[in-house]
Amino acid sequence: MVLNYDFGLLAASEIPFDGPEGASVFDGQILRVPSPAAGGVDYTLDLTLISSDPIIFRLATYSIVESSVQSKLEQATALYKESIDPQTVQMRCVVCHVQGGLAGGTGLLFTRSSSTSITTNFGIFSQFLDSRDTRRTKLLDKARGIDHGGGVQLTEGSVGYTQFEKFLKLLLEYQAGV
Ligand code: HEC
Repeated sequence: MVLNYDFGLLAASEIPFDGPEGASVFDGQILRVPSPAAGGVDYTLDLTLISSDPIIFRLATYSIVESSVQSKLEQATALYKESIDPQTVQMRCVVCHVQGGLAGGTGLLFTRSSSTSITTNFGIFSQFLDSRDTRRTKLLDKARGIDHGGGVQLTEGSVGYTQFEKFLKLLLEYQAGV
């Protein structure tokens, strides 16, 4: 692809600056503009100053910034690893939701803590959720004791419940491509 886009400066004004995050940076030659969304994809653009009177920038390079779909999955994965698997699945659910356990006949079977259990159990949630909001509701309802053979496992409003709710929301949004 040939990059030959020139930009003139139509107007300039000073903008309040409260941090480098997401800000455009100009080093005297190159203007770097992060994340202007175009067609649902975020880009970082590098514009080179090729003339200062009149001011003209030329598009030098651009790169695609990770899309928000990936970041939902990343957020869900991180939350799962840090909180959901160790604090909820391993401490509570797996007691019954395991092969041969009290909930061994259900469609929700986890594996006990091992070097691969986080990945395996994350996949089990993924499969069970199956892009369906009704599945998300079912998981939350069962966990807080509504029509659940295992009774109350997470009290509504507790940190554990809130984290579980957040995790399921992220995972479902990722699956639904939100
Ligand atoms: C003390 C045992 C026990 C514990 C602990 C337990 N459960 Fe259960 N769970 C059951 C039993 C028994 C069933 C089957 C009867 C029913 O549907 O309630 C079940 C069913 C379910 C179902 C329905 C599965 C399906 O195939 O439709 C979900 C979802 C569920 N549990 C979620 C959880 C979650 C999430 C946890 C951990 C926070 C958990 N359970 C902890 C005993 C338990």
